[in-house]
Amino acid sequence: MITSLLIRGASQIVTVAGRAPRRGKALADLHVLQDGAILVRDGVIEAVGPVTKIEKLKDSRDAQLLDLDGRVVLPGFVDAHTHLIHAASRAEEYELKIQGASYEEIARKGGGILNSVKKLRAATAEQLKERARVFLERFAEYGTTTIEAKSGYGLDVTSELRILSLHKELDAEQPLEIVSTFLGAHVVPAEYRSKPRGAHQYLTVLEQQLIPELAENGLAEYCDVFCERSAFSLSESRQVLLAGKKHGLRPRVHAEQLSNTGATRLGIELGAASCDHLEYLKPVDIRALAKSGTVATLLPGCDFHLGLKQYAPARKLIDAGAIVALATDFNPGTSPTLSMPMILSLACSQLRMTPAEAIAAATVNAAYSLGRHTRIGSLETGKQADLAVFEVADFREIPYYFGVNTCWLTMKRGEVVHMRD
Ligand code: NIG
Ligand code: FE
Repeated sequence: MITSLLIRGASQIVTVAGRAPRRGKALADLHVLQDGAILVRDGVIEAVGPVTKIEKLKDSRDAQLLDLDGRVVLPGFVDAHTHLIHAASRAEEYELKIQGASYEEIARKGGGILNSVKKLRAATAEQLKERARVFLERFAEYGTTTIEAKSGYGLDVTSELRILSLHKELDAEQPLEIVSTFLGAHVVPAEYRSKPRGAHQYLTVLEQQLIPELAENGLAEYCDVFCERSAFSLSESRQVLLAGKKHGLRPRVHAEQLSNTGATRLGIELGAASCDHLEYLKPVDIRALAKSGTVATLLPGCDFHLGLKQYAPARKLIDAGAIVALATDFNPGTSPTLSMPMILSLACSQLRMTPAEAIAAATVNAAYSLGRHTRIGSLETGKQADLAVFEVADFREIPYYFGVNTCWLTMKRGEVVHMRD
């Protein structure tokens, strides 16, 4: 049986090899090979380097050959922020937004996240799973090989555990890797809003019941909170993140998306893996991120979809030395896209990142934010053979062709999970 695969003929192998995470000028260091080859054995990269050298290796002799005919290879995208499990789109709200209603106005009228909660609770686990399976296939079609997935549209004990269990089942049943995050603190659910101290009561359920139970069953690695004037305050966010930490869940934070709340500094103080969104960062937050190991995960798909003009200050973050990553934030309310190539286009044209910076942010730095940089995020010996091949001659053409999916083949642990016919 042939277990080795020799990949050659690429115009560029974008290895993104080297130190993880990447800060400052090093973010643009992609380590591109022009006459390169990759030898894959048992799902792992056995060697990567000049084709003349790789072809001489013993395992190359009887390896199966994959000729890329001038295409470009990248490490598979790591999408470090998604809300995978939801029951339906919110296309009706999209129309209201176009007509001028703001995201927060829609939420105040019972739309927004609560709309998705109603729909999710009415769906069966099998329906949710089938929908997620289709999405996962689509992620692969766009070159993504690992995603982080958040709960947060259940907001009661049964529904949240159901979502987190689906993360685990889907991770085991299909090829893409799913990193599970608990986002029970997405908003206060409707049934608690009319109660006196309803938010406090809901947080008590999270703290005393849900978090201990999900942690005991190994259903999540991270605990997230939506810290925002329409969701949870800074002190409530601290309470949730500390409860998660107590049970071994590392914090992540939805921070400074619609206003500056101080959530970024809270995240850094609590050793968060990432602070995400960051449209309303203050200079002091940028300095704090630059000094920290917390990743600044930027989600330009939200601003694009909501028609907002205030994008996160990516250039300032990079120039200050913060660890910048990119993600889709795939969700039905603010960013209904699962296309990382589209996110790269937005990062380049709106956040003023270069194509090289955007690629490193969407691979090696995103992998770092999920604590998986020693295994994924770059094409280096010993790492998983997670890669994506694009029908272009130069990596800059990937974001350049915006809204066009140039992904030709996607491989996860050496297995082809998408190939364009
Ligand atoms: O990341 N901001 C909070 N959560 C999501 C939006 C959720 C929704 O509107 O359904 C986000 O943008
Ligand atoms: Fe989100």
